[in-house]
Amino acid sequence: MTQPPAPSLAFAGPVEAEIRPALLHFCDEVERHHGHRILSDQLRLDVLDETSSHPPVVAMAEVDSVLAAVSIASRTNEGWTLEVVCQHDHALAPARDIIRLVVNGVTDLLQRENPVRITWWARAHDPWVEHIASALGFVEYRRLHQMRISLTIENAARFHDGAAETRGFIVGSDEHEWLSVNNAAFADHEEQGGWTHEQLERRVRAPWFLADDLRLHPVSGGITGFCWTKRHEPDLHEPELGEIYAIAVDPSQVGQGLGKQMVMAGFSHLARAGIFIGMLYVDADNTAAMALYESIGMEVHHTDRAYRWSGPPSA
Ligand SMILES: CC(C)(COP(=O)(O)OP(=O)(O)OC[C@H]1O[C@@H](n2cnc3c(N)ncnc32)[C@H](O)[C@@H]1OP(=O)(O)O)[C@@H](O)C(=O)NCCC(=O)NCCS
Repeated sequence: MTQPPAPSLAFAGPVEAEIRPALLHFCDEVERHHGHRILSDQLRLDVLDETSSHPPVVAMAEVDSVLAAVSIASRTNEGWTLEVVCQHDHALAPARDIIRLVVNGVTDLLQRENPVRITWWARAHDPWVEHIASALGFVEYRRLHQMRISLTIENAARFHDGAAETRGFIVGSDEHEWLSVNNAAFADHEEQGGWTHEQLERRVRAPWFLADDLRLHPVSGGITGFCWTKRHEPDLHEPELGEIYAIAVDPSQVGQGLGKQMVMAGFSHLARAGIFIGMLYVDADNTAAMALYESIGMEVHHTDRAYRWSGPPSA
């Protein structure tokens, strides 16, 4: 019996101009094959950013000179976020050797950092990762629920009636205020906290960004909360979805009902745009947010998991 060809590491290092097109083309092809997005928005934007002084690092593996898997790690507040894109049939386990190769490619590059913290995000539709991650020394530490709600006529009317007063974001004018509310509300949050002007700018320039979908609650002299909504086109597996992409209330104003009113404003805005399913992601241990979403009738649709690696086991 002939052995299958062994995978080999084709590249490991920071994303650079020469490899960016092949990397993005590969991710697009795998996503097209599977019929849904695999790479998160955040990592995609980080890879696309040609001007960043902190580009993501990437490891790419080939089989028979054909790209078969990539792992991409990007800096966050607390270390690095890792995602893996691999061409495989979800009904069958992916080739462990290939995933091991690309993940080790990144951990080898980053292990000299002190302390090193790598967080591997695995989507719910990729249950194989759980076994591979633990074999590579990653330990589960975070769960992210995707919650949904049907934007029926009744719910849309309820949300319209309960919504806070909001206005759309004004590009070139609201950035400073938005960043100060966001960074205060998400002070301890790994991905959403500590945003810079550059990080906000990147999203404002993204093709999906619509200033009117970023709803702000105005008060004299500023804003005290926001609800950033985002529309997702239907794909092979999913209907059109209207996401609450980020929501926050200024910490000095929490506990007074504004959070609920902002969620309602966001879903009411999406319902008015003709979207029938509302959706958002929430950390399973975000007690305040979970209580809020459940109180308006949202339900968990699926759960993504994050695994953390904090360096090689000590000898
Ligand atoms: C989550 C957040 C938006 C809630 O805003 P808020 O103005 O305090 O919320 P509200 O006062 O409108 O409360 C809404 C519901 O959530 C519940 N709730 C709010 N804070 C809670 C807490 N700390 N513990 C338990 N329940 C809580 C309330 O019981 C309330 O339900 P009720 O109206 O049936 O009594 C706010 O805490 C925040 O900005 N947090 C940081 C950013 C964040 O985590 N965003 C969500 C990311 S998914």
